[in-house]
Amino acid sequence: MSGPLVLALESSCDETGLAIVDAGRRIHANVVASQVALHAATGGIVPEVAARAHLRWIVPVLDDAWGDAGVSWADIDAITVTYGPGLAGSLLVGINFAKALAWVHDKPLVGVNHLEGHVYAGWLLDPGEAERGEPEFPLVALVVSGGHTFLVEMRDHLTYRLLGQTVDDAAGEAFDKVGRLLGLGYPGGPAIQAAAGRAVDRDRTFPRAWLGDSFDFSFSGLKTAARRIVDGARAEAGLAHDPAVPLPDAIVAELAWGFQDAVVDVLATKSIRAAREVRARSIVLGGGVAANAGLRDRLAADADELHLPLIVPRPGLCTDNGAMIGAAGSRRFEAGERAGLDLDARPSLPLATR
Ligand code: KG4
Ligand code: ZN
Repeated sequence: MSGPLVLALESSCDETGLAIVDAGRRIHANVVASQVALHAATGGIVPEVAARAHLRWIVPVLDDAWGDAGVSWADIDAITVTYGPGLAGSLLVGINFAKALAWVHDKPLVGVNHLEGHVYAGWLLDPGEAERGEPEFPLVALVVSGGHTFLVEMRDHLTYRLLGQTVDDAAGEAFDKVGRLLGLGYPGGPAIQAAAGRAVDRDRTFPRAWLGDSFDFSFSGLKTAARRIVDGARAEAGLAHDPAVPLPDAIVAELAWGFQDAVVDVLATKSIRAAREVRARSIVLGGGVAANAGLRDRLAADADELHLPLIVPRPGLCTDNGAMIGAAGSRRFEAGERAGLDLDARPSLPLATR
């Protein structure tokens, strides 16, 4: 493999990520300081708390990554950093740190779209992992995270055509909200997956919003339905007037399974239909919700039927991390992109248009 060696920073939300990535693929170091425990206490992210935690962790995370990578500054070709979308205060911590490093070490700076990072996680190789082919174009990428849910077509590197996106909540947001409804805590995604795995009866059906032939998604109706179904289950269990008493674990498991099945069904069905429509040669799945085993298994089975390769990063590379920013940033660096020291946070930066 030949290509640039980049230092990559990610701080758009609640993970402080710093990585060193070679040639847009090979991870030399990838350190993530997660704030999940910090935000669990408030049941969600408080932006000011998140920004302060990034400030607290960014230097230790750099020290750790540097130790893992065994490289020197002379080896680094560029510094790549997420500049949006995300929380303004959090983004600024990473951007300003990246600028300082670029200035002190006289390295080029490249701004990266966080969502593009989630797509490019599909190109990453862990240290020591055997070489494998790159995702083939044209491809369809489904990105499902806490803040975003969309399907894009890529006919080449760094070019995106939006096929569909959520018209209301992101899939991860729905997982988090329903997780809270079920008393499973924050973040809801992994907790719902674990509870769903314990379900014995799998006959609770949650509604699917198909939105006709469109590739758009909607999860707010599902969330409302979940509230109604949970209330119904509480009434059935004689707990309607006792909000402090949790539902029995077996019922929570059934409900978690039904909810997860509805989300997975819509995501997988639309991705496969999109892949057929654009005659894709591969499907790439990314974003925090791509860590979901139910979604991974269902899409793998559906893609297999079409003899389409499905590329899904391991769960730790689906959730926010620096390596994915290095993968996308290397491509942008090689395409000649450079950011100035006036690079600013873009909290609502889009990835693609229709
Ligand atoms: O990509 P990510 O780390 O951050 C954003 O850019 O939003 O995604 C976080 C989201 C959260 O909503 C979390 O509940 C969800 O990903 N998530 C999962 C799983 N692991 C994380 N959702 C379903 N199943 C999982 N195993
Ligand atoms: Zn993300």
